[in-house]
Amino acid sequence: FLVDKGNHRHFMEKEIHEQPEVISHALSNYIDFHSQKVHLDEMAIDFAKVSRLAVSACGTAYLSGLVGKYWFERYARLPVEIDVASEFRYREMPLSNDQAALFISQSGETADTLASLRYCKEQGLKIGGIVNVKESTIARESDGIYPILAGPEIGVASTKAFTCQLAVLASLAIGAGRMRGTLTEAEEKQMVRSLSELPRIMSRVLNDIQPQMESLARELSKFHHVLYLGRGTSYPMALEGALKLKEISYIHAEGYAAGELKHGPIALIDENMPVIVIAPHDRFFEKTVSNMQEVAARGGRIIFITDEKGAAASTLPTMATIVLPNVAELIAPMVFALPVQLLAYHTAVFMGTDVDQPRNLAKSVTVE
Ligand code: G6P
Repeated sequence: FLVDKGNHRHFMEKEIHEQPEVISHALSNYIDFHSQKVHLDEMAIDFAKVSRLAVSACGTAYLSGLVGKYWFERYARLPVEIDVASEFRYREMPLSNDQAALFISQSGETADTLASLRYCKEQGLKIGGIVNVKESTIARESDGIYPILAGPEIGVASTKAFTCQLAVLASLAIGAGRMRGTLTEAEEKQMVRSLSELPRIMSRVLNDIQPQMESLARELSKFHHVLYLGRGTSYPMALEGALKLKEISYIHAEGYAAGELKHGPIALIDENMPVIVIAPHDRFFEKTVSNMQEVAARGGRIIFITDEKGAAASTLPTMATIVLPNVAELIAPMVFALPVQLLAYHTAVFMGTDVDQPRNLAKSVTVE
């Protein structure tokens, strides 16, 4: 069917703003809001019986899987092996049939992801596909699919598919936690309540931060290199921030685990390379702030993406501080995705690149 941009300049902008609506749609497929429970019954994988999970994907889908790894391990005590599909398919990972495998793909057609799926299938693993396109090859070849229900995504740089993948992975991790007896009913209800608040919080954030992101993008566009830092689930978010910025604005960007700063990137810090720190006020906050201090001490400029508690707790000078509402740790990645996406989007618009069709990139990479 026909997909148009509506009132938006680009599909990417439209897709960023659709997120509250599509996330709500995605969540309602996995969550019974009335009983505040996740329902995964009769879906592809019996998480209670699985000893390990192998996860594989490419690009932004890989980064959603990396966030998912933190959730499955913490909430369901289920060890996760994750790799980009182009490595996974060849690294001859030893697998046993008490493992299950999850493949994450918006299009369901990415060649390396499909090859990884086929490798696991040959080894007798149960296969779950987290896909947007339900008629795709990956959907067809999976034992069962977990649809992300994001609707058609046209912009090459993935936005709403990413946050819908996260919403689905969060639901799966909670459901797996219940099935494995690692989450209590009260904890499950609390987490489901947090997820159910997402659409409302996301619309508020999209509305509130828009002007600040536009003016910050104008400043960011003057630089040639940007470093993103984060810890815990904010580490994959730092990788995603760097990926988004480089793919659509062509500014060189790198994402790093904040604790790795000392092991290399600190050598690059000066006033010409802004450091974007993604740090909600969570259990890692103090540690990330000490990394920020190291940046500030070397004359680095900091763009601090945090929440109200985090903004109140740090007195370091910054180039800009983006203050998001305080939210539960589980939903922070979906909320923090918004400034990350908007900053990349507005920077690219400001630089005049082809936002929806960046040079050299394809929406779906169906060759190796
Ligand atoms: C390409 C796209 C990305 C996407 C990746 C994986 O690189 O430009 O936006 O994340 O492929 O695509 P998939 O369809 O498997 O999620």
